[in-house]
Amino acid sequence: MTSYAKISQVAHYAPKQIVHNADLAAMMDTSDEWIASRTGIRQRHIVQDQQTSDLATKVAARLLEKSQLPAEAIDFIIVATITPDSSMPSTAAKVQAAIGAHKAFAYDLSAACSGFVFALATAEKLLASGHYQKGIVIGAEVLSKTVDWADRTTAVLFGDGAGGVLLEASMQPHFLAESLHTDGSRGRSLTSGGQGLHSPFSAKEENDLYLKMDGRAIFEFAIRDVTKSIGQFIRDSQLTTDDIDLFLMHQANYRILDKMAQKLGVPLEKFPANMMEYGNTSAASIPILLSECVEAGKIQLDGSQTILMTGFGGGLTWGSLILKI
Ligand code: ACO
Repeated sequence: MTSYAKISQVAHYAPKQIVHNADLAAMMDTSDEWIASRTGIRQRHIVQDQQTSDLATKVAARLLEKSQLPAEAIDFIIVATITPDSSMPSTAAKVQAAIGAHKAFAYDLSAACSGFVFALATAEKLLASGHYQKGIVIGAEVLSKTVDWADRTTAVLFGDGAGGVLLEASMQPHFLAESLHTDGSRGRSLTSGGQGLHSPFSAKEENDLYLKMDGRAIFEFAIRDVTKSIGQFIRDSQLTTDDIDLFLMHQANYRILDKMAQKLGVPLEKFPANMMEYGNTSAASIPILLSECVEAGKIQLDGSQTILMTGFGGGLTWGSLILKI
């Protein structure tokens, strides 16, 4: 029997502490006007004492509560993150333990701001295999620990948060098409979390832990390459932009959304945005947006809408899914 996957529940969580642009202007040479006009960002949520697994666990617990499922019903947990608590155990393994999902296997997936889209595409294959019935996919980040707070060119852009979905096996197809890409040759334009060689047998390297970004190169990559890829993907899927009800894009910068919408010839109203409140939360940005759209009644989760989801960022990676949701 053919099996498919569908998103049956959504949830998100953001740390309570809010850092406004004015708070950053008191710490570094920047201003609310510069940040808001260049990026659309007005504030971001920043952890005080929580780790990525704490945020992801809140989301997983909310998903179980909303769907009234016992934790034992979950077959797998994937956490997309570039800011795991540690290399091992994985963030997903910590979530598995915290919610008591004893039957679930769990692992992290690292694809930066495309992480949630890549993880969702992977999870769909697990459910389509017919071996599993229910899985949780979460995007969770604590980017505040990888940002260099002395570098105004990146510190103002990022925030912390988590969002996720419960996926269930379905008799009807809901994942209509996918298009996933990586260009590792351009990876140097966005880096973080470097781990230098530190053994008596190796030449020592400097650690490169902080997030570093060639902002202009990433901006152009998003506007030119990612937008072209979305247009081609829609055509390859024998659809037009009119067939797409909502475009859920990675929330990096409002100007990027605006230019994408213009280039694709789509009204900006079809591009919901929340980077004003959260900043760029990398792998968490799309699931937080999805969850907020459901809360606001823009998405009903009744299979009546067609949405396009696109992540893009470090790797470089970019990827889109078209979903009946
Ligand atoms: N406050 C005030 N001034 C600033 C700040 C700041 N926070 N940051 C930079 N400036 C200054 C610069 O020093 C520069 O000054 P100068 O002209 O005297 O040299 C001036 O502002 C202009 O700097 P630019 O870098 O040219 O500014 P730009 O208009 O390109 O905007 C930005 C920068 C917002 C980063 C933009 O390039 C961008 O959005 N890039 C894409 C980022 C992105 O989408 N990342 C997504 C992927 S992230 C991920 O995958 C984890």
